[in-house]
Amino acid sequence: MKLTLIGTGYVGLVTGACFAEVGHNVLCVDNNKDKVAQLKAGKIPIFEPGLEDLVKNNVAAGRLAFTDSTAEGVAHGEVIFIAVPTPPQPDGSVDLTYIEAVAREIAQQLQPGQYRVIVDKSTVPVKTGEKVTETINRYSAEGCIFDVVSNPEFLREGCAIADLMQPDRIVIGSRSQRATDLMKAIYEPFHAPTYITDINSAELIKHAANSFLALKISYINAVAAICEASGANVDEVADGMGADKRIGRAFLNAGLGYGGSCFPKDIKAFIHIADELGTPFHLLKEVEKINAGQLDRFLQKIKNKLWVLKNKTFGVLGLAFKGDTDDVRSSVAIELCRRLLAEGASLRVTDPQALEKAQTELGHDPRITYCANPEEVFDRVEAVILATEWKQFRNLPWKQLKDKMIAPLIFDGRNLLDHHSLREMGYDYTGIGRP
Ligand code: NAD
Ligand code: UGA
Repeated sequence: MKLTLIGTGYVGLVTGACFAEVGHNVLCVDNNKDKVAQLKAGKIPIFEPGLEDLVKNNVAAGRLAFTDSTAEGVAHGEVIFIAVPTPPQPDGSVDLTYIEAVAREIAQQLQPGQYRVIVDKSTVPVKTGEKVTETINRYSAEGCIFDVVSNPEFLREGCAIADLMQPDRIVIGSRSQRATDLMKAIYEPFHAPTYITDINSAELIKHAANSFLALKISYINAVAAICEASGANVDEVADGMGADKRIGRAFLNAGLGYGGSCFPKDIKAFIHIADELGTPFHLLKEVEKINAGQLDRFLQKIKNKLWVLKNKTFGVLGLAFKGDTDDVRSSVAIELCRRLLAEGASLRVTDPQALEKAQTELGHDPRITYCANPEEVFDRVEAVILATEWKQFRNLPWKQLKDKMIAPLIFDGRNLLDHHSLREMGYDYTGIGRP
């Protein structure tokens, strides 16, 4: 089937490539001309495992192409997916400027008599579909036939291709049988359980799902604090809790809290939506509070050990908001660096993929040394802080690295490292909720 993706970022590019992989003919549109030029030249603007090969193979097979023209996009695909940003506004509500702009641009390109399905894949507040429909009606010529569908995306960065190729479920929010049939045909090759709902419910599923996952993270982080106060071990508590199928072990990893381009903004948005609808969601306000407190508590632990941080140098392992990505948007690791710098500390930082993007965020402060090799982070530092859950940090030659440090202090903000063996090597190890 001929499909168009408008917005070729994390969601648009990976989804477009996966649609092409199962045989659809996909045109990805982006209004960032540099990005489109890069993609046309075979360069992938983001790091996502497996993406480069997937894009190259499908471009070579003639199933995937790129353009900066919305007009071409609307002419190409009978089904047009919108995957543009929905950033937060200062009051927590969602900035829908990008969605409105694309809806208007699509409307102006619709041809009378030609059927199109406009699918919102961006994460949007409930009732956005209604507004998109009104907008397209307002700006399109008479006689244009279209349906609006909500099809939220649940991929995680770092494992986006697997999440898309073997999804837990597909949600299709649609009032039209014609549009629903087309959507089912698009997703048929993915063999996933499919939930057909009304548009408002589909939009709500996305915010409710992300908020619930964030709630799980804050729940275990609050439990971790109780573990610290009582001498229990949060890893063992999470395993024991998570073994109950009704609870599940996933997203019960205690740490520095959730970051990234989605959870922080989506939880804020859901709180705002609930307030606006007159049904305040106080539970989610607590989820945010616990999340923000994680970094404060962690910094306090560092201060408890090292007293004054001013003029001390710290090694930081990991800058991305999670492992297996180069995305540093709302990364807790970056915020940690900022807080240490504000205390007057110097930093030696590394990340397997996000060093360049981190440099754009943190700038060229002379107190920051960007290290391409993680082992350089250990040179004459007072402590090493693990801030992102990159698995390869487990396999560093920890025994040798200890002698490079001023004192062998480790603060593990993601409970990633084997604390027993590090302690045997002579490290002073501090994790989250681990005795
Ligand atoms: P992104 O910033 O990586 O990509 C968005 C792209 O849209 C950019 O390349 C931008 O240039 C382009 N764009 C903006 N306006 C445009 C226009 N008028 N015409 C054409 N292109 C335009 O964003 P993202 O991370 O892919 O997120 C997109 C949406 O998907 C958001 O609502 C987000 O919440 C949601 N989402 C993201 C993820 C994720 O893991 N990143 C997962 C699920 C859902
Ligand atoms: C999250 C959701 O998992 C996706 O389903 C959703 O599609 C996406 O948001 C979105 O809407 O954009 P993502 O942000 O890519 O995906 O990454 P996650 O794996 O969910 O991690 C988010 C944050 O939570 C990271 O900072 C991670 O370190 C943290 N986290 C995750 C924990 O602290 N503990 C955990 O147990 C899991």
